[in-house]
Amino acid sequence: MIREIYFAGGCFWGVEHFFKGVHGVASATSGYANGSVECPSYEQVYTDKTGHAETVRVRFDNARTSLQTLVRLFFAIIDPGQGDGQGHDIGTRYRTGVYYNSQEDLPVLEAEFARARKLFAAYAPGTEFYTELRPLGCFYSAEEYHQKYLDKNPGGYCHLDLRVFRYRDLYQDTAALLDGEPDAVAKMAEVAALVQERMGFFWTGFYRVQGQELVLGPFQGPSACIRIGFGKGVCGTAWKQARTVVVPDVEEFPGHIACSSLSRSEIVVPVFGPDGSVTAVLDIDSKELGTFNRTDAEFLQLITELL
Ligand code: SME
Repeated sequence: MIREIYFAGGCFWGVEHFFKGVHGVASATSGYANGSVECPSYEQVYTDKTGHAETVRVRFDNARTSLQTLVRLFFAIIDPGQGDGQGHDIGTRYRTGVYYNSQEDLPVLEAEFARARKLFAAYAPGTEFYTELRPLGCFYSAEEYHQKYLDKNPGGYCHLDLRVFRYRDLYQDTAALLDGEPDAVAKMAEVAALVQERMGFFWTGFYRVQGQELVLGPFQGPSACIRIGFGKGVCGTAWKQARTVVVPDVEEFPGHIACSSLSRSEIVVPVFGPDGSVTAVLDIDSKELGTFNRTDAEFLQLITELL
C-alpha cells in the first residue's frame, strides 16, 4: 500500500534528493507545509511571514520500506539541535519537523521521536531538541524549478553533509546483505568490509564484550590490540557510557589506546543487544584529524542496529 509522510529538514532540494534514493520511496515532492497562505509562491514563503516550512512529501510502498526506517533516515540527515534553520539556511521556513496526515501513524512517530531524543541527548548533552511532530495542516507543491533540483543542477547547492548520500546507499546495501542472517560474527565481518570499502577509513572493526573486557572481533585494516578493559580507551569509554564517542584528535583523549600511531581521529559506536545492554562496539579510525561528526554517528548507529 502506498502511504505518505512529510519531512521538513531545511532546504528541500537536498532532502528531496536524499529520499528519492531510498528503496521503497515511490515519490518525493518539494513543497510548503503548515503555513497560513493558500498556494504560496517561493517568494512569499521566503519572507518567512507565511509560516510555511520547506517540506518534502514522501510517498512510499509500505511493503518495501517502513515509516520507522524513513523517520530514522530523516533524523540521520538533520540537526534537531539547530532551532533557527539548518546549516547556513536561517529562518522558520527551514525549521525541522515531521508532519503526518493519518492518526494511525502517531504511535510509530512518537516512538521514533522518543528514540531520536534519547540518542540526541547522549550525543549532545544539554542541547535543546527542536524538531516538531505535528499533524499536516496543508501542503502545496513548490514550483517546477524546485522539483528534482539537484538532478537538474548536479553539484548545485545542498545544505546537507554530502556524505549522507553515500551513507544512505551503504545503509541500504548493508540491510539487504544482512537480511535473514542470524550469525553475529558473520554480520560484523560483512559490516566491517562494507564500511571500509565504501567510506575508505583507515581501520574499521568490532570489539565484542566478553566478561569485563572487549575482545577484538572482525575488522578491516592493520593489526590491532586484542583486549580492552571496561572504561579504558575510547572503546571502553563508549561501552561504559553506552553512547557514541567522537574523538576529533586522539591525542586530546585521556587514556586513548594507540594501536597504530597513524590513527589521528576516531568514532566508537556501541552495539546494543535486545535487552539494551552493550554487546560490542564498532570502532573506526582515521588518519586525518576531525574526520567524524554527527552524520557518521547517526548512520553508523543505524548500521549497528542491523546487527
Ligand atoms: N583506539 C582504540 C583502541 C582500538 S584501535 O583504535 C583499533 C581506543 O582507544 O579505544
